[in-house]
Amino acid sequence: MINIAILGFGTVGSGVYEILKKSPDAIAKKAGDVLNIKYILDIRDFDDHPERELFTKDYNDILNDESVKIVVEVMGGLNPAYDFTKSALLAGKTVVTSNKELVATHGTELIEIAKEKSVNYFFEASVGGGIPIIRPLNQCLAANEIQEINGILNGTTNYILTKMFSEGSTFEDALSEAQALGYAERNPSADVDGHDACRKTAILSSLATGKFVDYNNIPTEGIRNISTTDVLFADKIGYVIKLIGAANIDANGKVSALVAPRLVSKENQLSDVNSVFNAILLKGDSLGDVMFYGRGAGKLPTASAVVADVIDGAKHLNVNKWVIWSAADSDIMANPEDATYKYFVRTQDKSLKDALSGKEIGSLGDEVVFTTEEMKEKDFLLVAKDKCSFIRILA
Ligand code: HSE
Repeated sequence: MINIAILGFGTVGSGVYEILKKSPDAIAKKAGDVLNIKYILDIRDFDDHPERELFTKDYNDILNDESVKIVVEVMGGLNPAYDFTKSALLAGKTVVTSNKELVATHGTELIEIAKEKSVNYFFEASVGGGIPIIRPLNQCLAANEIQEINGILNGTTNYILTKMFSEGSTFEDALSEAQALGYAERNPSADVDGHDACRKTAILSSLATGKFVDYNNIPTEGIRNISTTDVLFADKIGYVIKLIGAANIDANGKVSALVAPRLVSKENQLSDVNSVFNAILLKGDSLGDVMFYGRGAGKLPTASAVVADVIDGAKHLNVNKWVIWSAADSDIMANPEDATYKYFVRTQDKSLKDALSGKEIGSLGDEVVFTTEEMKEKDFLLVAKDKCSFIRILA
């Protein structure tokens, strides 16, 4: 029997409990041993829970119990998750997490401690909810240099964009629904302003390059400014609007990354990814394009990835599964202003269209709407900054 502890009994933690309890025999067969939940840590009381004796508010109960081999950290946030994770790894316990903020911030250190202690720090659920993407990047795609990542990485914003623009919901109603369904972060600004997608882009970029990519260095824009007018004009020229986490990695390993709303061609597979679904489109030098698609948030989809990590952890107790993710090169990031994009522009400044050699799509009231050819961000901003609203087009 392998004892495990769950830290945090919120949406994901209760999902992990539910999956482990649903078919323990099937899971034991896959894990090679019975998985027993010995503790659940939460600051709240669960007096009505049928297994209320499992609950503790004292993390030391778990840390000091040598029989606990796997700790499931699904609390979210940096503190106390960082201290709990670090001390568990140092105590020789494997840690499984869905906490993208923690992985994106302290991943380098925690992965290194796991290596030193011959245990594992697994984080499949940190990107794409239930979609297998971390293990494929580490294992199945290991023969490839990853050249491009384009992902719809945040279920809440994709849900909001889909509800607003396909079903006519208001932003507020769509966000409330996403919160009620357990998709949104505690502070939904993390979703809406792109920070959650940014951390996930940083995790994928770190795995793709083998070097820590700091999310603080990824330019990030959210979806608050996207309007129905943008969506209608985009539709007219064969595009939809999606929040995309993107990273291009050049032959020298330099990363050009951006998290922002993008016009996505209806011919691009990402354009059909709706509601809470996420998708990650990767380009490897040998494989070419490959896409991973599934539910990017929610209780059971996310818990499904967590439990898969628990099973892998059970099969590899005291054996570190190597992850290449070392400290950053100081100059790993390319200058964002050197990136090139085509732009979709709306402006009242009619001279801008000619200045940017724009191709007009139409006009609305005082505004002209046009697209540009591909140009360097720095050249675009030099002419257009503060004179228009713009959305970059995904090539
Ligand atoms: N708030 C996140 C999302 C949860 O909406 O995608 C899953 O990471």
